[in-house]
Order: sequence, then C-alpha cells, then structure tokens
Amino acid sequence: MNAVEFSAWSAAQLARVEQALSRWVIADAPAGLGQAMRYSVLDGGKRLRPLLVLAASEAVRGHAEAALRAACAVELIHAYSLVHDDMPCMDNDVLRRGKPTVHVQFGQAQALLAGDALQALAFELLTPEGDMVPPALQARLCASLARAAGANGMAGGQAIDLASVGKTLTEPQLRAMHRLKTGALLQASVRMGALCGAGVSGAAQAALDDYGAALGLAFQVVDDILDVVADSEALGKTAGKDAAADKPTYVSLLGLDAARALADELLAQAQGALDASGLGTVDRLRALADMVVKRSN
Ligand code: IPE
Ligand code: IPE
Ligand code: MG
Ligand code: MG
Ligand code: MG
Repeated sequence: MNAVEFSAWSAAQLARVEQALSRWVIADAPAGLGQAMRYSVLDGGKRLRPLLVLAASEAVRGHAEAALRAACAVELIHAYSLVHDDMPCMDNDVLRRGKPTVHVQFGQAQALLAGDALQALAFELLTPEGDMVPPALQARLCASLARAAGANGMAGGQAIDLASVGKTLTEPQLRAMHRLKTGALLQASVRMGALCGAGVSGAAQAALDDYGAALGLAFQVVDDILDVVADSEALGKTAGKDAAADKPTYVSLLGLDAARALADELLAQAQGALDASGLGTVDRLRALADMVVKRSN
C-alpha cells in the first residue's frame, strides 16, 4: 500500500468515525452535560486509537459493526482521560486540541462529569441491544477495554505519573508508567480490532499484541519528545509542560537523541511483530506505526 492509498483509507475511516461519534455522543443530556461531552470528543484529535482498531480489524476480516463501535468506544475513553488529565488537580492545562480545555470552558464539575459520562457511554456502545454484535464478542470487547482503562491500565498509570512529580525514575520504572498510562489503551485498540475477527490464530494475536505494546510505548516516548521540541500551536496543547511540572519523561531521563533512538527502535520492533504475524493485510498497521513515530503533533 502506498502513501496515497493509506491517506485515502484513513480519510474514509476518519469520516466514518467522526459521523458515528457525532451520532452517539448526543447533546441531549441534562443541564448542559451533552454539550460538554460533545466539546470533549468532536472536532479534534488525531483519532489514532480508532484507526488502530479499524486497521487491526481489517487485518483479520473482523466484524464491521463491532469494530466501528470498538473504535468509537476507545476514543471515548481516551477523550475522557484527556479531560481529566487536563484538570487543575492533575496537569492543570488550559489548551487541548487547539481549544480551551473542558474545565476552562465548562467548569471543573462539568468536566469531571463529562469524563464520567464518556466512560460509561463507551461501554454502552459496546453492548448494543439486539443481535447486531454477538454477545460473546461484546463481553470480550468490554473486558479488554475495562482492563486497559482501569487501575492496572490508564488510570493506574496516571496515578504513577502524579506520584512521580519531582522524582527521577529508573528506565524500567518510567517504562512501566508509560506502558500503563498510554500504552495500555493503544495496545487494547489493536487487541479489540483483532477480537472482531473470528478464527485468528493464537500466534497472530500474540504478534498483534507485541505490535501494540511496542507502538504504545513508542507513542508516549514521542509525546515526551514533542513536549520539548514542538510548539503549542503545532501541538494544540501547551508545549514544555513536562519540564515545567517536573515530570519524569524519556527526554529528562535519556536526553533527546537517545529518546529519538528508542522511538526508532520501538518502531522497528512494531514492524517486526507485523512481519511475524503471518497476516496478509497489515499495511495499514504498518503505516500507523510509522505515523506514531514520525508525527509532528
Ligand atoms: C495525547 O494523546 C495524550 C497521550 C496519551 C499522550 P494523543 O496525542 O493521541 O491526543 P489526540 O487524541 O490526538 O488529541
Ligand atoms: C496523558 O499523558 C496520558 C493520558 C491522558 C492518559 P500526558 O499528560 O503526557 O498527555 P498530554 O501531554 O497532556 O497530552
Ligand atoms: Mg498527564
Ligand atoms: Mg497532560
Ligand atoms: Mg505529554
């Protein structure tokens, strides 16, 4: 697949995801909560996690409706994590996706509730009534997402992040934090896409898991790098926050050059896992891994 084919595929998927999110995140919730939820989710974001779900599902000829629901569900959990991450009690950020953060726009209580409601909506999307998605698949998707979002996934990683302010972590400690706070949800995106396929071999699933793990860590290493080298306009969020808040990052631990080298090494690992998967249609996953490491925002 060449770059033109990938960008046509990705534009088409992004349009589907955008339309689905706009349909599912309704404005009609009490006391303005719907507006805060839509503001949190729509019109912004690279939508990397949905693209990973859809690309992984295509690689295994997955159930299309389940994959679209999973793609949106992961993005809702991600959006909720950003709303809470930006709040004054966490990173205290005022800019996200090029707009004022949700608590700046709607107040802290509404931001907290928007995050709560987005998390619940994610699981609602995964469990539609009727026979649209087989019940066993619904259960597996819910379990994967719950594990990745919870105490031994994103939320646990965020707890470590906050407890690590002002500390110097060892490389294994930093890696463990990044794997949880960011890697878990990215790896779950790939896994959920793979779950949508029937009859995927254990070896292929394990290879996709390795791909997701390498890509997930690479993603946060690059996030740490961009915080230092990019500007707020390009990022759509405040640059330079990690050093200002005295957060341990791959740049503070290794320096820029070694952090970049690590991102490249993780990219090679991710691509190697795809080679080992034995799956034929992994070009989109390949292109997404490239995008994660070579991105500028
Ligand atoms: C930012 O994630 C937060 C981290 C997990 C590091 P993204 O860079 O994917 O944010 P959006 O969705 O594109 O805004
Ligand atoms: C955020 O990590 C991870 C989650 C939201 C789970 P960061 O705090 O580094 O993300 P940014 O840089 O604010 O996007
Ligand atoms: Mg944070
Ligand atoms: Mg932050
Ligand atoms: Mg960051």
